[in-house]
Amino acid sequence: MTNRMPHPMTDAATFIDPHDIDVDLNPSNNPEFRDIAETRNALNVSRRNVLKTGAASAGMRMFGSFGLLGLAGCGSDGDDNGSTASQPAPLPPPPPPVLGFSAVAKSVADAVIVPAGYSVSVLYRLGDPITASTSDYRNDGTDSAASFAFRAGDHHDGMHFFGVGSNGQYSTTASDRGLLVMNHEAITPAYLHPTGATTVSGVRTVAEEVQREFYLHGVSVIEVNRSGNAFTYSRTSSFNRRVHTLTDMELAGPAARTPLMITKYSPDGSKTRGTVNNCANGYTPWGTYLACEENWAGYFRRIAATDDPNRTPKERASFARYGVTGTGRELWATVTPDTADNIYGRWNAAKLGVSADGSDDYRNVANTYGWNVEIDPFNATSTPKKRTAMGRFAHEGAWVGPVVAGKPLIWYMGCDSRGEYIYKYVSTANWDPADATRGMAAGDKYLNDGRLYVAKFNSDGSGQWIELKFGINGITAANAAYAFTDQADVLINARLAADAVGATKMDRPEWGAVNPRNGEVYLTLTNNSNRTVATADAANPRVYNDIRANGVNQRGNPNGHIIRWVETLSEPSATSFAWDVYLFGARATQDINNVNLSGLTANNDFSSPDGLWFSRASNICWIQTDDGAFTDVTNCMMLAASPGAVGDGGKKSIVASDATTTRTLDTYVGKPPGDANLRRFLVGPKECEITGIAESPDGKALFVNIQHPGEETAPNFTTKTYGSYWPDGGTSRPRSATIVITRNDGGVIGL
Ligand code: FEO
Ligand code: CA
Ligand code: CA
Ligand code: CA
Repeated sequence: MTNRMPHPMTDAATFIDPHDIDVDLNPSNNPEFRDIAETRNALNVSRRNVLKTGAASAGMRMFGSFGLLGLAGCGSDGDDNGSTASQPAPLPPPPPPVLGFSAVAKSVADAVIVPAGYSVSVLYRLGDPITASTSDYRNDGTDSAASFAFRAGDHHDGMHFFGVGSNGQYSTTASDRGLLVMNHEAITPAYLHPTGATTVSGVRTVAEEVQREFYLHGVSVIEVNRSGNAFTYSRTSSFNRRVHTLTDMELAGPAARTPLMITKYSPDGSKTRGTVNNCANGYTPWGTYLACEENWAGYFRRIAATDDPNRTPKERASFARYGVTGTGRELWATVTPDTADNIYGRWNAAKLGVSADGSDDYRNVANTYGWNVEIDPFNATSTPKKRTAMGRFAHEGAWVGPVVAGKPLIWYMGCDSRGEYIYKYVSTANWDPADATRGMAAGDKYLNDGRLYVAKFNSDGSGQWIELKFGINGITAANAAYAFTDQADVLINARLAADAVGATKMDRPEWGAVNPRNGEVYLTLTNNSNRTVATADAANPRVYNDIRANGVNQRGNPNGHIIRWVETLSEPSATSFAWDVYLFGARATQDINNVNLSGLTANNDFSSPDGLWFSRASNICWIQTDDGAFTDVTNCMMLAASPGAVGDGGKKSIVASDATTTRTLDTYVGKPPGDANLRRFLVGPKECEITGIAESPDGKALFVNIQHPGEETAPNFTTKTYGSYWPDGGTSRPRSATIVITRNDGGVIGL
């Protein structure tokens, strides 16, 4: 968790930092590995057998079955014919990528630094207009609220490049023209208004400021075009669109149109208004985007002390488990007078009305958030759909697994808070490549009906996916912590269902990525200051002290790690897997036996992995950081990696230690990468997070988001003193922005 600038408007006692809502709201007694140490035979398949059959022999089969077919099957333009063969001939996997650049040094400069031979251009900044008639951004807090419906939002985050073919439709190969779709996760209010947000005694008194903030969240769709080696975005494209907190959204899947979704806005529970805190993302084989709602809970106002007496025990348990218990992070519900359609009051989740079903207030509104939101970037007037079958939690993002004709589609998902879980969604329908051109109708087919699983990591290196289904695995009305009613209740309260089945509490699950070479799944566990000697387990094994230059202790797992797994027999819908830890973040100077377990050096040491993406062009694994622990030495960064495979290292015994206790435990550590296979590629400007990555399909342009530069230093508007002046320089206010990285010789990035 980064030490960010105190939020100017929120009550410290109840406020949960929405930038990294990593508080531990998980009171379950679920095992951290020690308690499940002897379950190794539960799978009927030993770790060694999983590795042997899953990673080695099936790894060869896998590339043939999905590496080529899957990607081809995604195609919808005339260039991709989309094979429908059921059993393609096995092909050898491609060789691992060979990194071809010199590592950049750690840096605290207010600049984006990339290797020699590469160039950076700034593409799309906070406030940039997306129509020809919208004025240039003044960047002094005076642009009208209404104009922000046609401007870039703040806090650029998860992102995807959808190629546009010559027919104007989705193309998996078009690289010169594309739709860049990105999330605007949150805001830094200090820079959005003349002198920061205006708040008097906990009340927002300037409605215009709040309206501006409504538009600054959400998603951008912009058309980008390449000329020579350079990309620009079009201000006149008919594809350009903003989705924000005022956009009408359909609720889809099993939890839609159920009693828990009824609001005054939608008495039949069929829709809601807006999306918020869209962190990382996903995409589908039919060319749509998934914007994932992460720290939505903190936006709702619900003063527990006054509202709890009006709520049922189940409602109270649900609110507590998700953290809907505060003043509302931006105090949006405090604006008066409200509008006829409650654009402010709909952020108040308290029970205020007299109806029996909630159709006269917003007591259920928080249930309409916490989902993956499907958006069709190729249809600027389409209604986004919240896909409830994928579960409700603090969605970091959703990463599609191998796409194989005749097999279910898979999405891997993380819930980013301390001690939360990793999930997998498996569609009921098997993939039909003919659906690649069906847009949201394909979404209805694959994303409204499926099975939701949660991960349990065993201490012997095996793991299980446990289904979250009403009536099985203890998810019943008899469950002590929360009496489930039906499957809609399970999906809306997925965290409570995962508690009930004994899922493994992880060190803040962030991004996932699937290795195109062998189908193995990687997932960043960014850090966890709450991890203790008592709760350490094989998959979250480190507890140590990372001492800052100023002597401040940082305990727990302050630098994070990246876990990976291979599904049994390399079958993505398998219910068991084998895992190891690919990489542990650490200072290169840390203890090599217990902390710097991956042997990081000055060329690749990092902390708090967050963004993760395997390039389809180069197979390079890109790792981005959102860090507050290593910032005494360096700003946040992006690294390039060429990983091996699950099991290429081995079992290792390490010592976890806090101020008073130590304990020895075993974990599984991937082969140390060395400078050859892990190198720092980029360092960002001051006080930023590096997040969001997309590439042109030819791999010759890499799009990266620089989020909230200068966020931690309180600004002085009189002297124009800010924590960063990036990207415009001089005495300008800092702006989140998308950059484009190209190689000066026009080659594939990173090789
Ligand atoms: Fe929004 Fe978990 O990062
Ligand atoms: Ca962030
Ligand atoms: Ca993130
Ligand atoms: Ca993060």
